[in-house]
Amino acid sequence: MRIGFFDSGIGGMTVLHQAMRYLPNEDYIFYADTLHVPYGEKTKEEVREYIFDAVDFIAEQGVKAIVIACNTATSIAVEDLRKKYDFPILGIEPAVKPAIQNCEGKQKKVLVLATNLTLKEEKFHTLVKSLDHHDIVESLPLPGLVELAEKFEFREEIVVPYLREKLGSLDLEQYGTIVLGCTHFPYFENSIKKLFPEEVDIISGSMGTAKNLRRILKARNQMNDGTGDIVYFKSGFKVEDKETLSNYKKLMVRLDELARDKVKIITPQS
Ligand code: DGL
Repeated sequence: MRIGFFDSGIGGMTVLHQAMRYLPNEDYIFYADTLHVPYGEKTKEEVREYIFDAVDFIAEQGVKAIVIACNTATSIAVEDLRKKYDFPILGIEPAVKPAIQNCEGKQKKVLVLATNLTLKEEKFHTLVKSLDHHDIVESLPLPGLVELAEKFEFREEIVVPYLREKLGSLDLEQYGTIVLGCTHFPYFENSIKKLFPEEVDIISGSMGTAKNLRRILKARNQMNDGTGDIVYFKSGFKVEDKETLSNYKKLMVRLDELARDKVKIITPQS
């Protein structure tokens, strides 16, 4: 059986890419709810409905686990989804814990970049409250990056000015760790890196989620002998047109390149 990956758009592919490094012999379904992206700018109630529709659809295809490869959707629905289905449902959340650990003893702060909805949600505030004993965690919504990613617009000359405008009022020297708390953001890692001091670390929760997925499948004796095949769906329809499939392939190549460029990889602890 396949493993389902779900996001509002192409962001979830950053998590799928990571999972495929740990589980190359699995086969996958990737579902992007492109009809309703961006989730981060909608109400919680609206987004909840979209999530349940999408996950119902993926479950109907027959999967052994589903990864909610979206921080926004995880914060809104992961607990209720787990009550509904009898297979494992994994989520992703901003990697606040390793980010704080990484700043310990450095007199540096943590900056969490995510969607508006993730940062507004109770789940995020509870997480920060339980870990941030020295008041070093700050956050900033960057909805424009979701929009750019969905247009496959990654050029630095477009992305960097947007980031400069958003980050302009902050003293960027004070940060030791940047948390990519939205799965669309890793595509922009190089542009983000450009704005911060050289020694800043950029982390996301995707490695933690990928490792967790492998651990769960192993424990359930459900590891596969597949080929890493991916079937793509967009809001209930199978993606078959060549242009979209070729764009998806290019995204995977981009993620391969970014992974190669990475100087330092930090593993989230939880
Ligand atoms: N990729 C999603 C996340 O990780 C949300 C992007 C959006 O639809 O606003 O939060």
